[in-house]
Amino acid sequence: MKDADYAFRRGRGEYERLIDQAEIFGPLTERMLRSAGIGAGMHVLDIGCGAGDVSFLVSALVGPEGSVTGVDVDGGAIGVAEHRRAAHGIANVSFRQADARYLDPGRLFDAAVGRFVLMFMPDPTEALRSFAERIRPGGILAFCEQAALIAAPSDNSQPALAALLALFTSVFERSGARPDIGAELYSRMRDAGLRPDPRPLAEFVLYPARDALTFRRWALFARSMLPKIVEYGLGTEEEIRHGIEHDLRNELLVATGLVPLSWLMIGQWARVPER
Ligand SMILES: C[S@@+](CC[C@H](N)C(=O)[O-])C[C@H]1O[C@@H](n2cnc3c(N)ncnc32)[C@H](O)[C@@H]1O
Repeated sequence: MKDADYAFRRGRGEYERLIDQAEIFGPLTERMLRSAGIGAGMHVLDIGCGAGDVSFLVSALVGPEGSVTGVDVDGGAIGVAEHRRAAHGIANVSFRQADARYLDPGRLFDAAVGRFVLMFMPDPTEALRSFAERIRPGGILAFCEQAALIAAPSDNSQPALAALLALFTSVFERSGARPDIGAELYSRMRDAGLRPDPRPLAEFVLYPARDALTFRRWALFARSMLPKIVEYGLGTEEEIRHGIEHDLRNELLVATGLVPLSWLMIGQWARVPER
């Protein structure tokens, strides 16, 4: 199956977006990691580590006796992650540029974790199977993915944001990504031969209304998708930039007091059966 066309721009703006959104999705990710059993002394793979935020969360949980290996196909992201690791003096994390589905055989890890990454795999069940081969029997696979992006107000009071959401959905679809994979995690883990826990975690992530941070977050998201929006003929750079700076800014900072769009996130984990 052909690899998905990556929906987001590679580069500084995208890494800034990932670091910014890590603040919002961090608490659910940490609860999931703890519930899954990630703890002191474990050696953990972080699949699709991006700028390193999940790796840094795991680093604190596994402590000095444990380790984290962050893997990403994007060398630029690995560079940013490594720079942040060194700046914070974190000793139990290392990063590697690689396609996580085709890691060289070597030592087995205690767990593989990931966030917003299975959604980019053309065959997520097969990908889970390949990650499980790198994990010891009885070890853990734990992933946090979006199940839906939901427009909260039904009164059409946020047309600019609603239009952007439609664009984001089109880009995800055209690029082969799966923006609703969170709801499939349980069955995909089971189909991959794993033993998923029947009690996953879920969380609605709400961005507050009339708030500069909310504007900034959606603007970062839109800017990061801009190249694909243009490439797929869904809008011009001028239209999108004007739409963000004018309509979206006005809508999110001035016009409405309603809670804007929200994400439904699911954290699901499973054990690798004893072989
Ligand atoms: C949306 S980012 C999420 C980054 C990070 N997990 C986080 O939550 O901040 C998805 C990342 O997965 C990486 N990725 C996608 N497919 C991959 C693959 N097959 N192997 C390794 N990394 C992959 C992308 O390059 C990108 O950095």
